[in-house]
Amino acid sequence: MPGAIEESLRLPTPFALTYRAAMAESEIGGRRVPADQVLSVWLSAANRDARQFADPDVFDPGRDPDPHLGFGRGIHFCLGAPLARLEGRIAMNILLDRFPQLRTDLENPPVLMPAPNLIGPNSLPLLT
Ligand code: HEM
Repeated sequence: MPGAIEESLRLPTPFALTYRAAMAESEIGGRRVPADQVLSVWLSAANRDARQFADPDVFDPGRDPDPHLGFGRGIHFCLGAPLARLEGRIAMNILLDRFPQLRTDLENPPVLMPAPNLIGPNSLPLLT
């Protein structure tokens, strides 16, 4: 379950986009960034970077290490990450204990939220 939760944070990247302001002129990946620019930082793109993740489009709960940016990185790293991981593990374990055959319905796929920066389902039909 812990590996499945990490892959759920990496592959869809629920919090896909964040922003940073360049306080001074700098360089990122060989490109000059002028001061006072707002940068769109796509965590979802980084989480599918083939230089970091073998078979990046494959959901692999056994991926180890799994250095995804699903909770951000650095000084603004998600304050609630340990709580979110704990809640996810408890909820999923209870759900699967109660419905051991729980699975998605291939004929009735999930409908994603329309927001480009938040990745998650508006509806997720399941079979028990
Ligand atoms: C699956 C659930 C969650 C995801 C995917 C998530 C994702 C993120 C990400 C990517 C950031 C970094 C944003 C940035 O660098 O601009 C962040 C920051 C933050 N998160 Fe979460 N988060 C989750 C749950 C939570 C929970 C449960 C809490 C509180 C109980 C929380 C509180 C915060 C706070 C306070 C920050 C700002 C930290 C700072 O700027 O220093 N998050 N989160």
